[in-house]
Amino acid sequence: MAVDPKLALNGRAKFNPAKPWRVEDSLELYHVNAWGKGYFSINDAGHVVVRPYTTPEREIDLYEVVEGLKARDLTTPVVVRFSDILAQRLRHLHAAFQQAITENDYQNRYAAVYPIKVNQQRLVVEEVYRYGKEFGFGLEVGSKPELLAVMAMTESEPERLIICNGFKDDSYIEAVTLATKLGRTIIPVVENFDELALILKHAANYRVRPRIGVRVKLFSEGSGRWADSAGEKSKFGLFATEIMELFNILKERNMLDCLQLVHCHPGSQLQDIRRVKDAINELAHVYAELKLMGAGLQYIDVGGGLGVDYDGSGTNFSSSMNYTLNEYASDVVYRIASVCNARAIPHPMIISESGRAIAAYSSVLIFNALGSSALDRFKVSGDPAADYTGSKELPQPILDLFEAYRSVSERRLVECYHDTLTAREQVLQMFNLGLLSLEFRALAERLYWATTAKIRDCCRKLDRRPEELDALESILSDTYFCNFSVFQSLPDSWAIDQLFPIMPIHRLDERPTRTGVLADITCDSDGKIDRFVSLRDVKRALELHELRPGEEYYLAAFLVGAYQETLGDLHNLFGDTHVVHIRLHDEGGWWIEEIVKGDTANKVLEYMEYDVAELYPALARDCERAIRDGRMTLAESQLLKRFYENELNGYAYLEPAGA
Ligand SMILES: Cc1ncc(COP(=O)(O)O)c(C=O)c1O
Repeated sequence: MAVDPKLALNGRAKFNPAKPWRVEDSLELYHVNAWGKGYFSINDAGHVVVRPYTTPEREIDLYEVVEGLKARDLTTPVVVRFSDILAQRLRHLHAAFQQAITENDYQNRYAAVYPIKVNQQRLVVEEVYRYGKEFGFGLEVGSKPELLAVMAMTESEPERLIICNGFKDDSYIEAVTLATKLGRTIIPVVENFDELALILKHAANYRVRPRIGVRVKLFSEGSGRWADSAGEKSKFGLFATEIMELFNILKERNMLDCLQLVHCHPGSQLQDIRRVKDAINELAHVYAELKLMGAGLQYIDVGGGLGVDYDGSGTNFSSSMNYTLNEYASDVVYRIASVCNARAIPHPMIISESGRAIAAYSSVLIFNALGSSALDRFKVSGDPAADYTGSKELPQPILDLFEAYRSVSERRLVECYHDTLTAREQVLQMFNLGLLSLEFRALAERLYWATTAKIRDCCRKLDRRPEELDALESILSDTYFCNFSVFQSLPDSWAIDQLFPIMPIHRLDERPTRTGVLADITCDSDGKIDRFVSLRDVKRALELHELRPGEEYYLAAFLVGAYQETLGDLHNLFGDTHVVHIRLHDEGGWWIEEIVKGDTANKVLEYMEYDVAELYPALARDCERAIRDGRMTLAESQLLKRFYENELNGYAYLEPAGA
């Protein structure tokens, strides 16, 4: 019998309730192998494990990590960064290009330059820089502050490439020129034509022979959410006419050897490989033309865009990509090699500014559920005499609701649902006209939810669910209140509907019996997650376990290492979460390399310009006045002051009692 794919997606038909639940069922239900790419799995204890080397021999139990952090007074929410994954991503990137270089007999090398805007946290940039050393990888900056950070970091390794993108003013270019004088291998990329004059001015002033890059405004448009990064209307890049002008100016000044790099950025999270091919092909032809005209070009920089398969579907959906890392590398190298071979010019060094693909996998956000609310908790017997003990006559719409509840059967599911909707509508109209009491409205509410839950339960037993009732699973899904802020920790989920894989990190050897959406602790109704990964569609509710009193329930959002930490904001003054860096131990197990404590209330208030030194004294003064006037006892005032002081110095997120 055919299985309705939607039912399968909700984990109902596919996961036979009669069979005991196994860890493999959880792996399949949450699509772990699809999006985890070997970095994540589930162990026999039913806990999510992290496998930095994508092999089961060395793995880190995430639940154990949470317990270990708790023992160190670090409570969730916490961002856990796996430095070994970061290192492994760099290795994968290098290996993919190395393989493509060998296969295409490419006569030059490849280097990634990590765009630090993807995650500028010092510890992350330092790790990328350290692990990228053996492959000769560099860094990319897009602003003056980013340049200042990177200039200091490259102190002892001046040969590491620094690519400078973004808007550049006079002092930005001056700093780049002086960095060249200092010996850094630094290339400002001309993104707006005016920048050329500044480069030439400072080069003359400081007697520096600059390396110059030029960003090409591609005709081939990008794709997906960042499609506007390329194409004729893109914000950055030079038109062909401007490139010719730049070339002629350099030629006149006898500086053609300074024009060393051509650059493009076809957009972030390129989901379709065809866009990559088109962009690289166009850029390679610009390179070839300029090279043949006499420019000293040595590098071709293909920008960012290498995607991350967030939902694991391997499709050209916006949270996915229809190609692999190896295919990307192979296409880039092949396209450049073909153009250069056809024009008989030397192969340039290939640079990519891959950010997301380097950083995303290495961070996991772990948070705890604080409680849940279920709409199917409303129960009725269906007998008016038992469900209503008052003396008033029941209004007709309420009698209709009772009738609908009683007549739910496989044959009448859609009809009953429509009857229920109509009767509820009438109840609300009567209430708003003052014709129906709050008591009856409450009874109608219970009847409505009890009936829809009964219809949903009937649907679950069917092989094929009526289309009209498709939405019932998500309408009736629970809300799990979770200790994190979407705005601070998963801003792309809110701002651009980006999907992140989210699932419980334990109890995965146990059948999840509930479905729910996640609400965060901000006071914003947008602060929720109600779209979840699935291989065929977007799931509107996530399979979850029933909360047990007195027991923590932990969930995690995966692949959050790119863009989330620095784009996050302070909505409701929830600041940075705790961050820890976990490493594999050579002798087995794991250890904590770094602990960065999350923001205290004091710190976030300071960001908002509060004079934090004045907060406590103000409250203390008020307490003393309350004691003087007899409104408060000394003991009460001490209690309040202690609480206030502790909270000012405490974690901005919710903490378990006594923490
Ligand atoms: C110029 C430039 N380079 C590189 C990147 C990084 O892109 P991604 O993270 O998609 O690799 C970006 C981001 O949009 C960018 O604007």
